[in-house]
Amino acid sequence: MIIALGADHAGWELKEELKAWCIRAGHQVLDFGTHSTESVDYPDYALQVAEAVASGKAERGVAVCGTGIGMAMVANKVSGIRAAFCPDLYTARMSREHNDANILTLGGRLMGGELAIEIVQMWLRAEFQGGRHRRRLDKVVEVERRGLRAEAGG
Ligand code: RB5
Repeated sequence: MIIALGADHAGWELKEELKAWCIRAGHQVLDFGTHSTESVDYPDYALQVAEAVASGKAERGVAVCGTGIGMAMVANKVSGIRAAFCPDLYTARMSREHNDANILTLGGRLMGGELAIEIVQMWLRAEFQGGRHRRRLDKVVEVERRGLRAEAGG
């Protein structure tokens, strides 16, 4: 799988651990940075991960900041993105099975690499179940479409 990765300074260390695991597991990684603990702004990195997934350059994205919250907020502003903050295995699985999440966000200040890797593994493995969940996601798309029209003044 082609996976876009991004982090701010608070997520950098965990992003590096996830990157190493992704490569070991045979995935192709697009690493959008950051590349150190020097303070940066999470929206710049969330946007790059989201654009990579929305454009199809990456099949999935994983974005890490201190809490996972800022990354999810920004990514979800990009059309076609369904970013989910999943601090545990259950939400990781459900975000795929019910919500077809295409970006996972994690908090580097919340957990160590071992749990984060298990969450990513679960999230990559779980499949969207379709059916009634498809109908609900169609409604999400409709909300997104109406939002864009309002912005354009229509
Ligand atoms: C950075 O201090 C922190 O605010 C950021 O990593 C993230 O947690 C924002 O949601």
